[in-house]
Amino acid sequence: EMPMAVELIEVGPRDGLQNEPEFVSTEKKKDLILQLSKSGFRRMETASFVHPKWVPQMADAEEVSAYCNELGITYIALTPNVKALERALAVGAPQIAVFVGASSAFNQKNVNRTTDESLEECEALFTRAQQNNVFIRAYVSMAFHCPFQGTVTFDEVDHVVKRFVDLGADEIDIGDTNGQAHPGEVYDMFARLRTAYPSTTFVAHFHDTSKLALANTYAAMLAGVDKFDTAVGGLGGCPFSPGATGNVATEDVLQMMSKMGISTGIHMAPETIAFARSLSTRIAGP
Ligand code: HMG
Ligand code: MG
Repeated sequence: EMPMAVELIEVGPRDGLQNEPEFVSTEKKKDLILQLSKSGFRRMETASFVHPKWVPQMADAEEVSAYCNELGITYIALTPNVKALERALAVGAPQIAVFVGASSAFNQKNVNRTTDESLEECEALFTRAQQNNVFIRAYVSMAFHCPFQGTVTFDEVDHVVKRFVDLGADEIDIGDTNGQAHPGEVYDMFARLRTAYPSTTFVAHFHDTSKLALANTYAAMLAGVDKFDTAVGGLGGCPFSPGATGNVATEDVLQMMSKMGISTGIHMAPETIAFARSLSTRIAGP
């Protein structure tokens, strides 16, 4: 059954900008967040407390988060380890996102840990976040195909999902990090996960490398998913996922939902889309 309404979580300020080679000034990041905050998103991913040597673009996470506090918006901050969580707690981030690759080969490139080492680290991380009443989003990255190991099996995804469920994640976000999934496997993945974990909230996170992100969004919806990460202007990409392009464009998903009569509560000004695109050196023109 199709949902009547869906939640779109804007990830442009984080996933959208993290892969930009030229540093986007903190002022421009704030301006983007301000414009997006007026569009009606219930929450946004705005910062990443990763190591600035690994991802220089996110080096201003503290300042950006302080600005989000000023705006009073509900934002999500990426925290790959306890050190990151301490930084997020210090600025008072209301929601955090942990991320673990279903493909261990990718996880090693992304955070210098095997999948099981990362899951181990999650124990202390979840406990500390829960003590501070922080909402925990838990990503399973590279959940379909991996540029380093090839196909990713359902069991590899399930291994991470099960651990996240046991640790008490508030929502589990399944990522097609390199944008190679197709609608058939997306439908199967979410149908199987929702059957196996009926009381868990699943979110879908699609990159558009193969131009199938919108079709994948529809397929996930058919399987009962009603929360989607999107990035304004189709910005995005993971620096440790070679060749991967941006997330599914928020405006494309908005148009599809609107035509289908599914409500999102979001109205995005064309100026906001143009501004977002102007921040990217990888997107040609508006
Ligand atoms: P590491 O080098 O293994 O870290 O990096 P370490 O634990 O060995 O520590 C080394 C040094 O780094 C220490 O300092 C730590 O204190 C420091 P020293 O004692 O040598 O002076 N350190 C930190 N400093 C600041 N902030 C921190 C931090 N942690 C340690 N958080 C680490 C491990 C995870 C930090 C590193 O690999 C990293 O930052 N990786 C970035 C990965 C990343 O940002 N990837 C992109 C986001 S994931 C994504 O895009 C996918 C997603 O969109 C979903 C999808 O599409 O599927 C979410
Ligand atoms: Mg991503």
